[in-house]
Amino acid sequence: MPPGFQLGPFTLPNRLFVAPMAGVTDRPFRQLCRRLGAGYAVSEMVTSRKELWGSLKTSRRADHTGEPGPIAVQIAGTDAAMMAEAAAYNIERGARIIDINMGCPAKKVCNKWAGSALMRNEALALEIVQAVVAVCEPRGVPVTLKMRTGWSLEERNALRLARAFEAAGIAMLTIHGRTREQGYKGLAEYDTIAAVKAAIKIPVVANGDIDSPEKARAVLAYTGADALMIGRAAQGRPWIFREVAHYLATGEHLPVPTVQEARDVLTEHLHDHYGLYGEQSGVRSARKHIGWAVRGLPGGEAFRQHMNTLERCDQQLQALRDWFDTLGQTHDRLPAALAANDDDAQDLESCAA
Ligand SMILES: Cc1cc2nc3c(=O)[nH]c(=O)nc-3n(C[C@H](O)[C@H](O)[C@H](O)COP(=O)(O)O)c2cc1C
Repeated sequence: MPPGFQLGPFTLPNRLFVAPMAGVTDRPFRQLCRRLGAGYAVSEMVTSRKELWGSLKTSRRADHTGEPGPIAVQIAGTDAAMMAEAAAYNIERGARIIDINMGCPAKKVCNKWAGSALMRNEALALEIVQAVVAVCEPRGVPVTLKMRTGWSLEERNALRLARAFEAAGIAMLTIHGRTREQGYKGLAEYDTIAAVKAAIKIPVVANGDIDSPEKARAVLAYTGADALMIGRAAQGRPWIFREVAHYLATGEHLPVPTVQEARDVLTEHLHDHYGLYGEQSGVRSARKHIGWAVRGLPGGEAFRQHMNTLERCDQQLQALRDWFDTLGQTHDRLPAALAANDDDAQDLESCAA
């Protein structure tokens, strides 16, 4: 896999992307993943509903202070004119790439026929793409799109949509290998992604259940995708990007981080996090990141519960330092619970054969 990746006028440093995850991939988390090897990060979904643009939540989501470019913003909605307006609004505020969300299965989004629900209404999906491209193209802003393999197993229409989206001017397509109906259940399948990749010329990004360097290599080989997107496996383990990059480049594993590095990475992340959210909200929303970071580690669950009782940033930081320092007394590197699991990769390789 060659290192650089061209997306419209932008050269991305590599082909390993952080998946947009609402409530997770805020600016501090995106920057963290980028520091640790991700080549690209799309910001969390911004609604096309104008009345919400002034809200604290939306303005935090649209905060890109100090973020390395290109700034990519995901938009979601059900109305072509509103989506076009949302694209223009975000471009005015610094977005250089607009990503359309047709992948999110959340009820809140689906009830309004946005997110992956749009895949069921192909005419509307195409109308939205055309309207957004019409606004972005004259401004030199590439439009990308993220979708699932289809609405349901019976209605796996990703291939038909991909062709239509390519013709309408989409610059890159990400596919999560599940249907909307599946939610996050079952395993992601990569046949549909491979079929789409073979059928269109624009870059295709494979997504879904990539959780180890071996799995990354297997998905790339099986799908022929141009890039990979990793979501949940980066939660609490943001160094997965450098691990995957190193493995793809050399066929060898990087050692897992030392306990001290993991502590320092998380501490730095928390400082950034508090900076964006402030003390009260920051302490609470940081808990999930801390929970992911200690998941599977000895004493991690008890620590996670203790963490939920702390209400101040200094307490949270101190407790975290103490916990990692105690772990460091018995372990130089993070214990194996967080090490890569290659079982799925082997399954995938056998189905590729
Ligand atoms: C908490 C959470 C929030 C998500 N929010 C979004 C979103 O806002 N937009 C989107 O396109 N996908 C969203 N997704 C889907 C992910 O981008 C990704 O497609 C999915 O998690 C599968 O990849 P993974 O197996 O690497 O996690 C979300 C996923 C999770 C777990």
